[in-house]
Amino acid sequence: MENVASMTDSSLMILVLAAGMGTRMKSKHPKVMHAIGSKPMVGHVLDLGNSLGAVNCSVVVGPDMEQVESVVTSHFSSAQIFVQNDRLGTAHAVLSAKEALKGHEGYVLVLYGDTPLLTKDALNGLYSELKNGADVGVLGFNAEDPTGYGRLLVDDNGQLEAIREQKDANTEELQVKICNSGVMGFRTAHMLSLLEKVGNDNANGEYYLTDVVELARQQGLKAVATVCSEQDVLGVNDRVQLSEAERIFQNRKREDVQRNGATLIAPETVFFAADTKIGQDVIIEPNVVFGPGVTVGDDVHIYSHCHFEGAVIEAHSKVGPFARLRPGAEIGEGCKVGNFVEVKKAQVSKGAKINHLTYIGDAEIGEEANIGAGTITCNYDGFNKNITKIGANCFVGSNSSLIAPVTLGDGSFIGSGSVISENVPADALAITRAEKKVYEQWAARFRRSQQRLKDKKAGLK
Ligand code: UD1
Ligand code: CA
Repeated sequence: MENVASMTDSSLMILVLAAGMGTRMKSKHPKVMHAIGSKPMVGHVLDLGNSLGAVNCSVVVGPDMEQVESVVTSHFSSAQIFVQNDRLGTAHAVLSAKEALKGHEGYVLVLYGDTPLLTKDALNGLYSELKNGADVGVLGFNAEDPTGYGRLLVDDNGQLEAIREQKDANTEELQVKICNSGVMGFRTAHMLSLLEKVGNDNANGEYYLTDVVELARQQGLKAVATVCSEQDVLGVNDRVQLSEAERIFQNRKREDVQRNGATLIAPETVFFAADTKIGQDVIIEPNVVFGPGVTVGDDVHIYSHCHFEGAVIEAHSKVGPFARLRPGAEIGEGCKVGNFVEVKKAQVSKGAKINHLTYIGDAEIGEEANIGAGTITCNYDGFNKNITKIGANCFVGSNSSLIAPVTLGDGSFIGSGSVISENVPADALAITRAEKKVYEQWAARFRRSQQRLKDKKAGLK
């Protein structure tokens, strides 16, 4: 969970609709499991609920969506899951969570699990209207192309009168450009009784959540609309919209990172995960990808063409170009991890240098150690992953293979080209090399004999 709320609000319930199959995604996975910034869409929505301080959260899923359930609880541990077996419309979906609604006093914000770009500001705007006395609130937007959306019908006093679905609208109503984003808010006092009045006498034969507006007005209750940008409420129905949402997400994140004091030389070529944390005065060169779970400390320089996932880079380190940090890579303060270096599940202590062409996996590297070019920790024997410990101030010569499990004592020195399969004591030199043999004039004789053979063959032609 990332957005741990500083203040909780027990009067607020978030109700997320995620029962849709998402057939247009053409996927084996439920639609809301598809990720934006390496985080499932439903996770974005739940984290937004957390950021508003909601204590209560209900999620409506379809049958056979265990996958969604586990993501839901990982983002919102107290969330209640309800299964909507028949998909009879948005009001029916909300009523699937009736048991949770019955026990709740205050406000409910209904969100869609496939609308991952909604912002805290937009949702707060709607929530404020409820707290200021509205019984029903709708988040609307000015649609560039309103086709397919429900239209917000507003009376002369600016109060919301009704929401008309496209298929049920008359010509005049179809002219309306302000559309329903799908995000709606309710004061719980009247919510259940209104929902139970919703019928399905419409073009789709569905129970529309949007009908609650008209029903509320008939009872003299107050309904209002607030407006947000179309981008904030982009719904994802297919892979093209998924990549569009990703694009918008990345641009927002790039801007955030820069506003928080990091330099992105070519922001459009750097890709973040939703949970990426970047410190101050970090410089990120072009073409860097952050997978989930990466934290970068202050004053770090990331050279171009790197890929990171599940890694920590502490302050003042220099990483790349062309470095790959895999899950469990912990790069300490002031380290150097250079080109074509891969680090996995390894603690690299302060000031250590791994400058070129190296694989470090399942390892501990002590402070100020120097790992030469082409060093390989041979961590896998075909059955088990074994650990390599490299002490502080060790010097590992180039092109060495360290066959784990193995420990190099502090200050030890490994001659280049060695294959080390046994522990090395502190401050010792370990070297494994075949004896050098020199044959004087051998090469000159070899060249002469080869040339004679070649000339003979040519003469025969
Ligand atoms: C809905 C709104 C429409 C709005 C549009 C915004 C209604 C009647 N209409 O229309 O005014 O402009 O969203 O995108 O609410 N869902 C369930 N169970 C159901 C039906 C839907 O969980 O039985 C979920 C879907 O997974 C989806 C959301 O509710 O996340 C919206 O359903 P959808 O059928 O896409 O509604 P629209 O027709 O797009
Ligand atoms: Ca829809």
